Amino acid sequence: MNFDTTKLDATGKVILDHIYDQETPLHFYNALSQLDYSIPDQANPIFEKIISFIKKHRSTKTVKLIDLGCSYGVNGALLKSTKSLANLLCRYQSAELKNLSSKELTQQDKTWLNPNKKNINIVGADVSEPALNYALQTNLINNKLCGNFEERSLSKEEEKIIQDVDLIISTGCIGYVSHQTIGELLNSLTPKAPIMAHFVLRTICYKNIEQELDQVGYKTYKSKAPFKQRSFASKEEKESTLGRLREMSINPKNLEDKGSYYAHLYLSIPSEIEFSSLPEDILSYF
Ligand SMILES: C[S@@+](CC[C@H](N)C(=O)[O-])C[C@H]1O[C@@H](n2cnc3c(N)ncnc32)[C@H](O)[C@@H]1O
Repeated sequence: MNFDTTKLDATGKVILDHIYDQETPLHFYNALSQLDYSIPDQANPIFEKIISFIKKHRSTKTVKLIDLGCSYGVNGALLKSTKSLANLLCRYQSAELKNLSSKELTQQDKTWLNPNKKNINIVGADVSEPALNYALQTNLINNKLCGNFEERSLSKEEEKIIQDVDLIISTGCIGYVSHQTIGELLNSLTPKAPIMAHFVLRTICYKNIEQELDQVGYKTYKSKAPFKQRSFASKEEKESTLGRLREMSINPKNLEDKGSYYAHLYLSIPSEIEFSSLPEDILSYF
């Protein structure tokens, strides 16, 4: 691996900060391809089903969503282009692409990705300005929201960007963000209440977010089955995860003990939507 797999952050994960703030996703996809990265792939068909439901429920052709912690627009690529996660993980291993400047690579990616599904309007939210700029330049997102809302509120300009969102999604971001960010987004959106669909590692507690949402009338549902996120980078990462799960009284048998992180989907529904009115292809996950 081309990063130190033994140094762990406060949540027990290997430190991958260096791959999140580059001008292109080359290092991001190359690092994650070594870790059998799969959560955006697992999440995508479910996001598609929720988007279809919103279109019918709100009688709208275009669904506007925030992808929280969108990074280089991975979920956007899967939602708006015909490229798969496998295509993305494989692309950046080419020696030819590694020699391009950031500008050249971004330009080539824009053509290669060709994200032409126009009926999904994505606001990419992240702390990484370079990652957001890449996602915007390649049309994987329609607009960006750059900031750390764990630490500050949205400005009036930023509030305008996220008005009328129907949905907030995330993969791999809860934990970096807490109920603070979710609360800040919701405060800026009043009175409209978007559906939320977050894929959250089993080592991360969703309770504070659930309570924050509960206070404004949401109900939260956790998926029956967990979804594979990625392989552990090292035995240190595996050990720290198993220790954390033990402390949380979560059984890792046939899941994390086999060598990978797992996440649950938390679906939070505003009071205007009856959970039982969701289509069976969504209900079946809960
Ligand atoms: C594990 S990556 C997930 C990227 C992408 N969603 C995916 O599934 O591949 C976590 C992302 O969260 C972003 N992040 C970290 N702290 C954040 C914060 N306070 N607010 C928003 N995004 C944050 C990082 O910059 C990074 O892009």
